Amino acid sequence: MEVLRIEGGNRISGVFSVGGAKNAVLPILAAAILTDEDVVLTGCPKLLDVNNMLKIMETLGCRCAFGGDGTIRIQSGNANGWEMPDELSKALRSSIFMMGPILGRFHKATVTYPGGCEIGQRPIDLHLKGLRALGVEIEETHGMIYCNGENLRGGPVHFDFPSVGATENIMMAAVLAKGETVITNAAREPEIVDLQRFINLMGGDVSGAGTDEIRVRGVSKLHGAAYRPLPDRIVAGTLLVTAAMTRGEIELIGAVPGDLGAVLDKLRQAGCEIGASEAAIRLKAPEKLAAIEVSTQPYPGFPTDMQAQIMAMACTAKGTSVIVENVFENRLSHAAQLRRMGAEIIVNNRTAVIRGGRLTGARVSARDLRGGAALVMAALAAEGVTVVDNLSQIDRGYEAFENTLKSLGANIVREEI
Ligand code: EPZ
Repeated sequence: MEVLRIEGGNRISGVFSVGGAKNAVLPILAAAILTDEDVVLTGCPKLLDVNNMLKIMETLGCRCAFGGDGTIRIQSGNANGWEMPDELSKALRSSIFMMGPILGRFHKATVTYPGGCEIGQRPIDLHLKGLRALGVEIEETHGMIYCNGENLRGGPVHFDFPSVGATENIMMAAVLAKGETVITNAAREPEIVDLQRFINLMGGDVSGAGTDEIRVRGVSKLHGAAYRPLPDRIVAGTLLVTAAMTRGEIELIGAVPGDLGAVLDKLRQAGCEIGASEAAIRLKAPEKLAAIEVSTQPYPGFPTDMQAQIMAMACTAKGTSVIVENVFENRLSHAAQLRRMGAEIIVNNRTAVIRGGRLTGARVSARDLRGGAALVMAALAAEGVTVVDNLSQIDRGYEAFENTLKSLGANIVREEI
């Protein structure tokens, strides 16, 4: 079994260039199926989720090549599949947003229910409600979803909750649909703005991304495009918090301060000095962090994808912190693993109360992507040696995480035990 072995105590400091965002690359790859011309994406991260997405596209007939330099080339001219592969769809639940582009291209789609995962049930009711609002006939039976998009057309779509994936799904379904689509209570994440940029670069007509109302005017055809997805704000946030909790000093090149406003605000409240320019963020940690209160919200609120990481930081702060997870119903499982390292955390439903203190090395297991990263972060601040297993969770969202941290001063190795 592969594990990370970490000796805590080193300051995490230095300069690091942030790569492309997993949560921007995935929907942009899905959108590439809307054109039969070449698409070239640069600066893409080598991640399990990205590789799984490319495998899904290959089963649909797309030709995909992922070069060593982070360049992905997609040719969907021969794409002819509209049935999503079962196992791969379950391995990559967010691939449910493939329904939109497949329906836009082929006017039919067959997908399997993605099912729940470590952080929650992951329902897709908002996705299906949105597609039905665009005239898609949907039959759900025996765990499968059969979509007939012969009558796909623009229309009003309202989301009861600003779902990121559902917003992306409907944007992509509407791009080639006749007429105009207006999405209200849309998600506002930066990755959605990036998707809009990419679709418009291919000749689409989307506006309003980044606000809660997105307008899509259907066009008849899209052409190919070359694009560099935006930097990964969650990787950037993870490294900033890691430096903060190890008394470090870090500069992140490429990170966009505006994409991390809520996180930078919390880090300032905890006592960090933050400097920012258009495409770089600098952080200098205090000798002792102050406790914080965090309540996760859809963007521009504090991101749920940074909740586990800020909890690890709270374990080392002076005083008692409170964290409320409002977006996913089961995203606090890292608390139990942090307790194995001596953390004092009480969890009640969606609320965690953390009394800051000392962390000590232990054997812990990653339960989900961001929770796994949080355990590595805690290990870097702990006294002694920590062993983290179930690394496939971490590899889903962090490219060679140990190499990144090693380049910033961490005492960390990946080894077979
Ligand atoms: C995206 O997931 C991200 N994944 C997640 O990042 C992120 O945590 C999440 O958005 C929230 O920001 C990608 O972009 C690939 P949602 P998504 O639909 O689209 C409920 C990571 O760590 N909901 O905004 O699945 C849902 O259950 C991952 O990189 C419905 O009820 O998130 C959840 O409680 C984890 N019905 C809430 O909305 C629906 O039809 C937010 O989900 C859809 C969602």
